[in-house]
Amino acid sequence: MYLDPSKPLEARVDDLLSRLTLEEKLALVHADSKFTTAAIPRLGIPRRWLSDGPHGVREDVGPDTWKPAGRTDDFASWMPALIGLSSTFNPALSQAYGDVIGEEALKRDKQIMLGPGVNIMRTPLNGRNFEYWGEDPFLTSRMAVSYIRGVQSHEVAACVKHFAANNQEWERGTINVEMDERALREIYLPAFKAAVQEGDVWAVMGAYNRFRGEHACHNDYLLNKVLKDEWGFKGLVMSDWDGTHDTRQAVMNGLDLEMGTEKPYESFYLAGPFREGLSKGEFPMSILDDKVRRNLRQMIAIGALNGRGPGAINTKAHQETARRVAEEGMVLLKNEGGALPLDDTKIKTVAVIGENAVQLQAYGGGSARIKTFYEITPLEGIVRRAGQRLNVTYSTGYRAEPDPDLVGRAVHAASQADVAIIVGGLNHSKYFDAEASDRKDMKLPYGQDELIQRVVEANPRTIVVLLGGGPMEMGPWLAKVPAVMLAWYPGMEGGNALARVLFGDVNPSGKLPCTFPKKLEDSPAHALGAYPGKNGQEVYAEGLLVGYRWFDTKKVEPLFPFGYGLSYTSFKYSSLKLTEGKDPKGPLAIAQFEIENTGTREGGEVVQLYVNQTQPGLPRPVKELKGFHKVFLKPGEKQQVSIPLERSAFAYYDPDKKGWLAEKGEFTILLGSSSRDIRLEGKFALSQTSLEK
Ligand code: GLC
Repeated sequence: MYLDPSKPLEARVDDLLSRLTLEEKLALVHADSKFTTAAIPRLGIPRRWLSDGPHGVREDVGPDTWKPAGRTDDFASWMPALIGLSSTFNPALSQAYGDVIGEEALKRDKQIMLGPGVNIMRTPLNGRNFEYWGEDPFLTSRMAVSYIRGVQSHEVAACVKHFAANNQEWERGTINVEMDERALREIYLPAFKAAVQEGDVWAVMGAYNRFRGEHACHNDYLLNKVLKDEWGFKGLVMSDWDGTHDTRQAVMNGLDLEMGTEKPYESFYLAGPFREGLSKGEFPMSILDDKVRRNLRQMIAIGALNGRGPGAINTKAHQETARRVAEEGMVLLKNEGGALPLDDTKIKTVAVIGENAVQLQAYGGGSARIKTFYEITPLEGIVRRAGQRLNVTYSTGYRAEPDPDLVGRAVHAASQADVAIIVGGLNHSKYFDAEASDRKDMKLPYGQDELIQRVVEANPRTIVVLLGGGPMEMGPWLAKVPAVMLAWYPGMEGGNALARVLFGDVNPSGKLPCTFPKKLEDSPAHALGAYPGKNGQEVYAEGLLVGYRWFDTKKVEPLFPFGYGLSYTSFKYSSLKLTEGKDPKGPLAIAQFEIENTGTREGGEVVQLYVNQTQPGLPRPVKELKGFHKVFLKPGEKQQVSIPLERSAFAYYDPDKKGWLAEKGEFTILLGSSSRDIRLEGKFALSQTSLEK
């Protein structure tokens, strides 16, 4: 009966579980190669393939090594980095992105895609910031839920990671993280909770670090108490690779699938040692059965026992989605004197400068690397877009190994051109945007500050384009250049997307998902000396005050604030109306307002809604993002927008009451084009206090 897709999931799971021998059960809770668990042909259970990563389906490695398998059929689409997807503030686009991941995973016969990562940007230096969604839990939750729905609509399971408090790469495998319960509940858990309760994610990956003294891959509080008991998670918890360290904890603390342990498979904690413990009666069989049940649910739910669809790879639709995400994720940080968009009827020569104009980025960054079918570099995109009409020159300008001649040649090239475009920023080298190491600072490497200043002296019409996965310092040259465009890592269509935005075919609409500090010491984890921790322990001393929560509450001026991003047009917000929700099951309040495109170009705007509580019973940040809405308007077009405010928009976590408290009293609702560009505000009062567990 377990093979009958018309039967209820739980009945099929029970039936199949009842047919498994002990050995077959054990085979389902640990790996039998780098990225697989064993088939059970007798019962029609196929070998189960897991695959990285958040930005596309990774090349095959293994079977027992990280080295590439050397196949020629494991190319995939390389999508923009998640931090760039987050900058679109467009959940529908995130779902389309997840569609690409799911469809390609199906084509490559993968059952579980190991993404999205949803760890909060607590420090600008985290080597993996490019793989996540920035500093805000609400934005991360909305975007990740849509991504997961996209992936899982294709008979593929997503795996939200790394649960929890893996917010740096420094000592990631051993560090013990301590934080207060409100920071955990209000900042670091929300995106995981949303992934489980709204995204119905089938898998969760434990983090490498320890949390309150216990490894996150077998942490009783996180996995049993919070994830499974409180949130009702029915899927499986897998370890990060080699993140399992103890048999009894792995058995008793909620780990359902052990991956990547650096031991022979039979010696995995959930293999031989587990069998021995069972045979000695140290562990009840019901514990193993629950683990197996969770693995079977995932397999049966995605149709793995009934033959799945064909999937598809690198289709035109996938390429189009990649380009749209790249375009909508780019953030225009500065644009003076109409420097952008470029008008290719008024310029003749463009000097493109910088290693990042030609540097390939896909195959880098660690487990998120992709063996991409193709990658349009910034230079290639500009040449394709404008090369027939304009003279496009290229000079390296800077590169990883400094060379004094490069600057001179770039300065000369700029002096001979109408416009200079410097493409700089970071890359996936160690100590930049890469797994297993953190950045050492927020500076641009390889002498770029000097290069930019010399070039803009030679040609005032110098556009700076930055690639990278997190905040970068721009102090030395920002005031001197007329325009700065942040492109993140824009994926295989990145060069085309960049050219279209620079030449105005598309109006940029990205908003920063993270604060860009003026200097590192302004950032909370650094101001308090909390990062990177000492003697193997890190206390998140800043608590709730992560990102703009810190900058706004402590009144520290950022270089660019959370939610900031310019456009080639302008928008006017008006007539805010705050009304009480009528339906007792519906939102508590509705914020309605009008937005108008008052400029000359079509464009997208992300209206952000922040909430402030006038007199909270416990301290709260001065503002918290609790809603956003992206609209695309033609010049002169107006639109009525309404943003519903659920109870969660008003509540905070009360650790004594162990629940979410929405207190009677006054709140201020702020609508802004960024966290510091508030256009409308109004007061709203809750008529009663309520507590939700
Ligand atoms: C890595 C990463 C994780 C990845 C896994 C498999 O160490 O932490 O994100 O999915 O191992 O490559």
